[in-house]
Amino acid sequence: MSRPTTNNNSPNRRNFLGTSAAVAAGGAVLGSLGLARSAHAAGSDIIKIALIGCGGRGTVAAQDAAQADPGIRLTAMADLFPDRLASSRKTLQDKLGEKYAVADDHCFTGFNAYKQVMESDVNVVLLTTPPHFRPMMLKAAIAAGKHVFCEKPVAVDAPGCRSVFETVEEAKKKDLSIVSGLCWRYDLGVRETMKKIKDGAIGEILSIQENYLTGTLWQVPRTPKMSEMEYQCRNWLYYTWLSGDHIVEQHIHSLDKGLWLNNDNPPVAAYGLGGRQARTGPEYGNAYDHFAVVYEFPNNVKVHSYTRQMAKCWPEVEDHVIGTKGRAKVLDNSITGETSWKYSGPKPNMYKVEHDELFAGIRSGKHLNNGTYMTRSTLMAIMGRMVCYTGKRLTWDECLNSSEDLTPPTYEFVDIPVPEIAVPGETKFA
Ligand SMILES: NC(=O)c1ccc[n+]([C@@H]2O[C@H](COP(=O)([O-])OP(=O)(O)OC[C@H]3O[C@@H](n4cnc5c(N)ncnc54)[C@H](O)[C@@H]3O)[C@@H](O)[C@H]2O)c1
Repeated sequence: MSRPTTNNNSPNRRNFLGTSAAVAAGGAVLGSLGLARSAHAAGSDIIKIALIGCGGRGTVAAQDAAQADPGIRLTAMADLFPDRLASSRKTLQDKLGEKYAVADDHCFTGFNAYKQVMESDVNVVLLTTPPHFRPMMLKAAIAAGKHVFCEKPVAVDAPGCRSVFETVEEAKKKDLSIVSGLCWRYDLGVRETMKKIKDGAIGEILSIQENYLTGTLWQVPRTPKMSEMEYQCRNWLYYTWLSGDHIVEQHIHSLDKGLWLNNDNPPVAAYGLGGRQARTGPEYGNAYDHFAVVYEFPNNVKVHSYTRQMAKCWPEVEDHVIGTKGRAKVLDNSITGETSWKYSGPKPNMYKVEHDELFAGIRSGKHLNNGTYMTRSTLMAIMGRMVCYTGKRLTWDECLNSSEDLTPPTYEFVDIPVPEIAVPGETKFA
């Protein structure tokens, strides 16, 4: 995925300056700042943030967040592994300057590290661990009164999605923000293309094709000292209980656009096929390497979705939308047919826009809550995995109510079981 160039002139910066000036002039405008639950110490413009999951994405997300507002300070960090925390800490210390304010006693490791962050005085948490942990961390964050940025996907199974649906409602009641890392929703070109399509530029939508055809990803070698739990957590991409499999972990970006094109209304049913042909060794856990799923929406619109993680194959990441009067390519920001159009407006870095809008909402009291679509997209992706693993055609309600719970037997560094690889037609739907 390419990262467009940066735009530092965010509306958020203007909001902050306005607020700071008001504080300096009157000192009594805290009520209008909109930061829930004593997010400011009285008279202070500081927003304290914490990073939970200090890997590749989290370390960049912390930098994007820090740039969103002059008052931000990173004050706590948590990771499962001390080495991951240490390397992220070093990077952030170098990159953030005065915005880095993480004391040793605000660094936490282990499976319970996130709970210690929730007990600290941070205002905003960035949740960037592997997806398995998202439902429990989201629930704890909202219970503790924290605003949230959370990476996609937000669960790996239906019980996880049901938990997140509840947490999202709780956040609304408590006026807390939840911004999702489904980053294309924050890309200005994609937003404008979606608007054009919804305004009728390609007529009525007949069909949608979602492609996420890409190469292979990283792996961490096994060492003699590693327990099976440590090995799986370090190689989380290849274990369904941790990642959801790549249809959930990565293809969710495409499926989310399919959902968006259907006005965030979920599909009625789905069927599909998938398997593993190139990544067959035990180092690839129980993940598949390709999926093809047809999602049936009301009004006979279908999303035909394809995702593959294989080396040396033709790559394409694009959303093709076919309408009665033309076609759109969403990521290309273009339309052809009766109307021809190509987006030519500004393209700020969408990963930064996510944080600009999150913190602007916190400052103004107009809290963003992306919860409904992020959870529906997650369930849509899980549904795709379920139909491929079992070989069945399943309805949305069946998937939503599924009892399959991928929680491991324990959260300890011991030799947990190696999960089985699903066989379509044999693997049971639960
Ligand atoms: N929006 C995007 O474009 C985008 C891009 C990359 C990754 N992501 C998402 O971000 C998340 C993280 O991906 P990544 O590439 O940074 O992976 P990563 O492996 O680099 O980082 C994950 C970090 O979380 C830590 N961790 C694991 N379990 C934990 C736990 N229980 N508590 C605390 N820390 C824990 C790991 O040790 C690791 O440091 C995933 O959900 C992924 O799908 C999103």
